Amino acid sequence: MIVEIPGVFSPQESKVRVERLRAAQWIDGKATAGAQSQRVKHNRQLGGDDPLAREIGDEIIDRLAKDAVFMSAALPKRIYPPLFNSYGIGESFGFHIDNAVRGIRASRERVRTDLSATLFLADPASYDGGELVIRDTYGEQRVKLPAGHIILYPGSSVHKVEPVTRGERIASFFWIESLVREDAQRALLLDMDVAIQRLTMQNASDESLVQLTGCYHNLLRMWADC
Ligand code: NI
Repeated sequence: MIVEIPGVFSPQESKVRVERLRAAQWIDGKATAGAQSQRVKHNRQLGGDDPLAREIGDEIIDRLAKDAVFMSAALPKRIYPPLFNSYGIGESFGFHIDNAVRGIRASRERVRTDLSATLFLADPASYDGGELVIRDTYGEQRVKLPAGHIILYPGSSVHKVEPVTRGERIASFFWIESLVREDAQRALLLDMDVAIQRLTMQNASDESLVQLTGCYHNLLRMWADC
């Protein structure tokens, strides 16, 4: 399941953050790549302990915690502290798959990467190329979002970032361990939740809503791994 969530930051909020990020201390992206991805990864990143990365990363998590669609789609159990990457002209990240489990720096905590997330920060009009290409069962999805929008996709997907041919693509990326490990189960729960919300707005009968809401929670109880 691929889910786009708009407005984590407004265009203006994204712009201010991109300007601060541009002036930050960027390092070679290979530092956090596994053996296979190192060969195809050509970009720059902020260090995980960079104070600006932590500051904006915390803002992202705060915004997402208040976002009903994010909470319903991801059912988050643990969120990896957001990282930041930059692709300049000629930089790209070829097809790869993200590591299944990632240790959080300076802690013993680990996150199983059930979902991958990319928050687009740079204005898409300011760069060419840089599309995130995700292979899923329906083929390849090409994703390039307005500044401040986030895309969630299964951590199990093979994906790449196309070469940037003009400007600079700055984004945040991270992973979420979900209460519900299976993508298909999360997709079903999200569909059901959206339908329940819609029925509530249409003043459907209380009895049916109670029954459906009960089904949602009983499925979540059956599948949640707390
Ligand atoms: Ni990746």
